[in-house]
Amino acid sequence: MRNLRPLISSSFLLLFLVDAFGDSASPICPIDFSYVETFPWDTSLCRAGSDGCCQTLLSLFGMGLAQNLKDTSMFQLPNVTVSSYCLSDFRSRLARLSIQPSLVPLCFENSTQFVANASNCDGIMTVQDWTERVRPNSTLYTSCKGDLTGTRCSPCVEAGMEVTSQLLALDPNSTKCFYYAVVYAAGIVNEYGPKNSTTAKCALGLPIANTTGNSSDSFSNKKLVRIVMAFLGAIIGVLLSFGVVVLYKNHERERRQNAPHEEYVNSFRDEVLPNTGAKWFQISELDRATNRFSQRNLIGQGAHGLVYRGILSDGTVVAVKQLLDLESKGDEEFLNEVNIISTIRHRNLLSLRGCCVTSDDFRGKMRFLVYDYMSNGSLSDSLSHGINNLTWPLRKNIILDVAKGIAYLHYGIKPAIYHRDIKSTNILLDMDMKARVSDFGLAKQSREGQSHLTTRVAGTYGYLAPEYALYGQLTEKSDVYSFGIVILEIMSGRKVLDISDSSVLLITDWAWMHMKSRNVEEVLDKSIRDGGPKGIMERFVRVGILCAHVMVALRPTITEAIKMLEGDIDIPRLPDRPLPLSHESFRSFSSCSTSVSEINTVKLKH
Ligand SMILES: *[C@@H]1O[C@H](CO)[C@@H](O)[C@H](O)[C@H]1NC(C)=O
Ligand SMILES: *[C@@H]1O[C@H](CO)[C@@H](O)[C@H](O)[C@H]1NC(C)=O
Ligand SMILES: *[C@@H]1O[C@H](CO)[C@@H](O)[C@H](O)[C@H]1NC(C)=O
Ligand SMILES: *[C@@H]1O[C@H](CO)[C@@H](O)[C@H](O)[C@H]1NC(C)=O
Ligand SMILES: *[C@@H]1O[C@H](CO)[C@@H](O)[C@H](O)[C@H]1NC(C)=O
Ligand SMILES: *[C@@H]1O[C@H](CO)[C@@H](O)[C@H](O)[C@H]1NC(C)=O
Ligand SMILES: *[C@@H]1O[C@H](CO)[C@@H](O)[C@H](O)[C@H]1NC(C)=O
Ligand SMILES: *[C@@H]1O[C@H](CO)[C@@H](O)[C@H](O)[C@H]1NC(C)=O
Repeated sequence: MRNLRPLISSSFLLLFLVDAFGDSASPICPIDFSYVETFPWDTSLCRAGSDGCCQTLLSLFGMGLAQNLKDTSMFQLPNVTVSSYCLSDFRSRLARLSIQPSLVPLCFENSTQFVANASNCDGIMTVQDWTERVRPNSTLYTSCKGDLTGTRCSPCVEAGMEVTSQLLALDPNSTKCFYYAVVYAAGIVNEYGPKNSTTAKCALGLPIANTTGNSSDSFSNKKLVRIVMAFLGAIIGVLLSFGVVVLYKNHERERRQNAPHEEYVNSFRDEVLPNTGAKWFQISELDRATNRFSQRNLIGQGAHGLVYRGILSDGTVVAVKQLLDLESKGDEEFLNEVNIISTIRHRNLLSLRGCCVTSDDFRGKMRFLVYDYMSNGSLSDSLSHGINNLTWPLRKNIILDVAKGIAYLHYGIKPAIYHRDIKSTNILLDMDMKARVSDFGLAKQSREGQSHLTTRVAGTYGYLAPEYALYGQLTEKSDVYSFGIVILEIMSGRKVLDISDSSVLLITDWAWMHMKSRNVEEVLDKSIRDGGPKGIMERFVRVGILCAHVMVALRPTITEAIKMLEGDIDIPRLPDRPLPLSHESFRSFSSCSTSVSEINTVKLKH
């Protein structure tokens, strides 16, 4: 442990340098959050996804607010616009440390939380407001001064609580007074300021990274830097050779310290991607391709990862997906899945170009997948934002492309793969508007925590076959169900769930109602209603309804569905189905989601 220190401080320095040349903070947010990446806070709680993470993030944000208080004498941010800019900067800094950025909205109410509001703490908004209320004889002004190491910390915290209770006596409806007190203590009272780790640890309660106390190493490093600086310009030759020696020594030391990381990375290399089209990327290649994972290249983010656009040195445009998982036990699964996807080649499936696994002390283990870049984005974007003008022939081809992709997964390879997450956001369009199914094989890296459950259920719920959602019965027909939903979305241009008038209406129920009243035309998107042959378009809608039938046995297989779409076989008379799900049964479906996410780890047909 002891010799981790220099490594950490050198990565530190590196990050600092990188940052100095990197994107500057958003011009709108007054807080410079670069400290998120450079300050040695303990990221382990957030990496482990444990309960303490939110508190840590709040403290970390408080560090910025304390600095802002010092600089501007304002306790909070001027308005929601500013606040949301700050939060988004904060988020992206966390993302660069590969801490799941979705923790931010989860942990923080919303951006209004940090906006100055007279109702917060007896109307305190500025330092002046504060000094008018908290008298100069308050112990806060003395106990939080100076060195707050060890036993000197608790008097400061107690003083903060005392002040809080005084303020609450003035206005019992106050909120956030304690937060104000600690921010004040760190930003104004303590002369070392909020960015001193002792102060931050005590006043803000920020956990500090464990560097095992022996700071003599880093001290000598600092001294070294100072010496080098002093000689700079004077004896360049000496400096150079000196530098080379230092570099060499550091390199040697790092090489030794990196052994466990290399071992980890090599354990992947030995097992994955032999004789497939996919290759191993170095993290440096991906850094270069994505301009160090610049925020400007971020093209998507979801529960499972962040997706960046990148350009490889040979000019190929790729999508680089950084997998986020809060648990590290996904390694084996990752190996499995990479092995599966790397062997699948089909023109309607998004193929893997390669992957990258890295590990270092500062940022921990990271895994990336590299795919071809699909310039026309996702089907979902095209449908909901009208990004590409989807004419009837385009829609028809997209449906058939998706069907062929699924058919390949079900029948083209052995053992078959059930995608389990067919939905319009997972269907990508290439430059010729050919559709490719993505995210197969590699579905749920991590078991999703409560956090994603809600968003995921809202996002994907409507696509889950009921028997799968309720009982976890996974068959090829579950994918057929999701495919049916996608057909209906494409044909109608509507979303899977219509939550417009306070009730939830599934697209299948809506389409079924129209078909029942012999009004299938009503289902068709207005923009294609006159753009194609009625009969064929209605046939597609009927196949969609049949595929998304609640009764498993009535759904066709994907190959039968293709034949029906192409008119090679007749569509059976649609049997009746239960009434539309009420809002309540929707609720009870959602509550089964825990089991759904647990099933998510089973993928291969046995
Ligand atoms: C928010 O505050 C900033 C800085 O004080 C200001 O420039 C901006 O116009 C404000 N925006 C709104 C919507 O009030
Ligand atoms: C933020 O939360 C408050 C209540 O907690 C709510 O009134 C407000 O509408 C929310 N704002 C946004 C932008 O979601
Ligand atoms: C202040 O907060 C209260 C409730 O917390 C809210 O109703 C009010 O709109 C807020 N005022 C401003 C200016 O944001
Ligand atoms: C601080 O001074 C006020 C009067 O200015 C007095 O009422 C209060 O008790 C004093 N508090 C302490 C902690 O000495
Ligand atoms: C941080 O504060 C401690 C006292 O609490 C002090 O000894 C140390 O020098 C400070 N560190 C920096 C970098 O200012
Ligand atoms: C605190 O809030 C309650 C109800 O919300 C209200 O009745 C009371 O008058 C408020 N007290 C103060 C001091 O504003
Ligand atoms: C930090 O290091 C100390 C001493 O090595 C150890 O006892 C403690 O458990 C460590 N804490 C964490 C969070 O790793
Ligand atoms: C730090 O390490 C040095 C030798 O490496 C040792 O002499 C010293 O006692 C250590 N200090 C602490 C506080 O552990």
